[in-house]
Amino acid sequence: MQNNETLNVIFIGDIVGKSGRQSVKVLLPRLIEQHKIEFVIANGENAAGGFGITENVAQELFSYGIDLITTGNHIWDKKEAIPYIAKESRILRPLNYPSGVPGTGSIVIPTRKKNLIGILNVCGRVFMNLLECPFRTTKEEIKKIKEQTNIIFIDFHAEATSEKMAFAHYFDGHVSAIIGTHTHVQTADEKILPKGTAYITDVGMTGPEDSVIGFKKDEVIEKFLDQMPKKFDVPSISSILSAVVVEVDSFSGLAKNIKRISLR
Ligand SMILES: [Fe+2]
Ligand SMILES: [Fe+2]
Repeated sequence: MQNNETLNVIFIGDIVGKSGRQSVKVLLPRLIEQHKIEFVIANGENAAGGFGITENVAQELFSYGIDLITTGNHIWDKKEAIPYIAKESRILRPLNYPSGVPGTGSIVIPTRKKNLIGILNVCGRVFMNLLECPFRTTKEEIKKIKEQTNIIFIDFHAEATSEKMAFAHYFDGHVSAIIGTHTHVQTADEKILPKGTAYITDVGMTGPEDSVIGFKKDEVIEKFLDQMPKKFDVPSISSILSAVVVEVDSFSGLAKNIKRISLR
C-alpha cells in the first residue's frame, strides 16, 4: 500500500480513436510515475475508430498500462468484438443491461500493490437507452463488492448532469469515487462530497481536440444541417488527454483528494 494508508487511482476519460490512443501511449507512463499511480482505469467505448472497441485495440490499451477498461452506450458498436468482450473480464459493459447480456458490469481486482479494488460501470437513462434502474442495480452490486473491499470506483456513463449528481449523492459515503463519462466535455466541478466520495460530473475525452466531441467538425455540422444519415470519422490531429487522479484511504475506501487533469 502506498504510504501504508492511501492509494492513487487514475481514471482516463473516453479514449477516441487512434489519436486518443496515441495520447495515452505518450502521456500515461509519465502520469503513472508522477502521481504514484497504483491502478489505471480508462473508458474505451470510443477507442476503435470512435465507435466501440475491438480485441486488438483493447490489447493495445492494456500494453500502454491501462489495467481496466470501462465502456458505455457504444460498447456493442463493433459486433465482431462481442465474443471477446464476453470473456475478457478487464473490459466492463454497463451493469444495468438486462440479465443474460454478454459480459460483466463489475469486477474486484488486485492493484499493483495488492489492494483489492472494485469497479462498476453503469449507464444513466435520461436521453439514453432505457436500461435497468442504475440506482437500484448499483446499490445491489455495491453490497456484494463490499464483502471483499471498501475501495470502489464507479464509471457513471450518462448524459444529464442532474442524473449524474443525484446518483453521486445517493451513493456518497458508500464508494470511493463516482466518475461521470459520456459527454466528452470535462466539467470543472471535481470535489469530495460531504460523506467522502470523490466526484466529477464528466471527466472529459481523450481524443482529437479540434473536433466536435472527437469527430470531424464538418461531418457533424452537416448532420445538424440536413439531418441525413452520416458516417462520422475521427480526425488524425493532436489530442487532449482528460483524466482525474483520486487519492483513496485504503482502509475506509473514502477519498482524500481528487485532481483534474487536462493535458495536450
Ligand atoms: Fe464516449
Ligand atoms: Fe457514451
